Amino acid sequence: MDSPLVSKLLTTHPNEYAAHPSLNLPQNWLDILLFYNGYPPNAPLPQEIEALITSIRHEQLPRSPIMMEAYPLPSEQGMSPKKAHEVSRMSTYVARLAKTVPGSANRVHIVDIGAGQGYLTCALRTHLPSARILALDADTAQTAGAQRWEERLLPKTHLPIDHKVVFISPDSLLAAVDDWVLETSGGDCNATEGSVPVIFVGLHACGSLTPDILRAFTKVVSTSSRRNWHPAGLVVVGCCYNLMVPTDYPPSLKHLPASAYQLAAQVPSEWIKCKSLPEKYNLEPAAALSIRKVVYRALLETVLDRSKAAPISNVKVTDTKSATVPARWSRHNTTVHSGTKQANGPAEVETPHRLGRLRDSAYTSWNNFLREAEKRLKVTFDDDVFDTELEGDIEHGRIASDTVLYNSLSSLHVLRCLLGPLIETHILRYRLDWLVLQLAGISSTNSNQTSALELHSKLVNLFDQSTGSGRNVAIVIASGSFDFFKTA
Ligand SMILES: C[S@@+](CC[C@H](N)C(=O)[O-])C[C@H]1O[C@@H](n2cnc3c(N)ncnc32)[C@H](O)[C@@H]1O
Repeated sequence: MDSPLVSKLLTTHPNEYAAHPSLNLPQNWLDILLFYNGYPPNAPLPQEIEALITSIRHEQLPRSPIMMEAYPLPSEQGMSPKKAHEVSRMSTYVARLAKTVPGSANRVHIVDIGAGQGYLTCALRTHLPSARILALDADTAQTAGAQRWEERLLPKTHLPIDHKVVFISPDSLLAAVDDWVLETSGGDCNATEGSVPVIFVGLHACGSLTPDILRAFTKVVSTSSRRNWHPAGLVVVGCCYNLMVPTDYPPSLKHLPASAYQLAAQVPSEWIKCKSLPEKYNLEPAAALSIRKVVYRALLETVLDRSKAAPISNVKVTDTKSATVPARWSRHNTTVHSGTKQANGPAEVETPHRLGRLRDSAYTSWNNFLREAEKRLKVTFDDDVFDTELEGDIEHGRIASDTVLYNSLSSLHVLRCLLGPLIETHILRYRLDWLVLQLAGISSTNSNQTSALELHSKLVNLFDQSTGSGRNVAIVIASGSFDFFKTA
């Protein structure tokens, strides 16, 4: 991660590269992708690039999903096929884990942290009818949606799901669970049946929510003798690493800009589907489009320079409708590319007109894109920046004669994306190593903490990336008797 080439790739945004190409990059970017995916390139790649890709492939975590027969969902209504896949596999996994918890019959409590619309909680309710379930989320609209969904889907459930709107930090999570367990035990904090087993779950616990859940879990392991409940297991899948607070960055990645954390969302192993070699491969249309978007936007910088038009600000537009981290929350980290100031709140836009997010159809050809940019930026470009030939030839359009820059930018973007799974690997390994150390530390400093001794943590590939589930690795904590990788 700290090699000069990797650092250069991760710190060079394509927009900057377009203005000042500072790296000599190969022109055969499709071959980069083929080689990464284990296929022979059509033309040889530079040795340095081959060595880099070989070491990425060697160092990144394997991502094949564990074998599992998932329980059917009560309903898939409202869910994308990707979400249904994730909810059915994760709820099955958690249900099986819950059944192995000692003394769990009718007593296990499950907390879904960052429950969102409650798809996972509803599935858990169906698979574990006698478990107590608490759904936590900071967003009132999400929580109200989850409650409506539940009333429609599970109107006759004898144990309704409990909901609380709370902004989760390690302390607020523990306080919410303390109160809830007290409520479910009828206010009897000296319950005769002994300590209540509680399982923490989180599906796409974004940004720093995942490390906060892990902190809460390890904290309660060391203090469970003072509580009427104990942590019995954990299954958490993170996402949106670019939303982490910088103090949660792994030390090995601390030198990287925030934009590098966005690359961790890339899944280049799914970009190429090979039918038969050597020629019969398909570049996934969505991957081709995303490369084109990055390259066109970067090339626009050079066009603006040539046209002496006002600079644009390529502000990454935040989708305020997305249920990730509401924009008003202080930890929200707006990503700003060239032409803007870095700001903590909403991005400050320095120029009156900005490109913003364009429809996919704007990227069907270079000329279409330029015309759309003219409208948005209220500028008129010189004729010579438009393509006169090959209009509509998306992959090989001449981009006003600068195919070298086009190909170099494509290679830059592809190489940056190949580093994404490695960035995620560093984040996941850092989280796991931290957990292992914490649990070991707790059991060695306090010999009474037998619960810490019994708990093991592992990374488990819960989802199948080919269904679109890029973030497919769960951090799992369970007792040694649970088979983490075989849940049949
Ligand atoms: C990516 S969504 C996932 C929702 C749901 N688990 C799912 O998979 O459909 C993340 C959810 O976590 C909530 N969230 C994020 N950070 C939070 C925090 N610190 N405290 C409470 N909720 C949080 C958001 O409001 C959002 O509903």
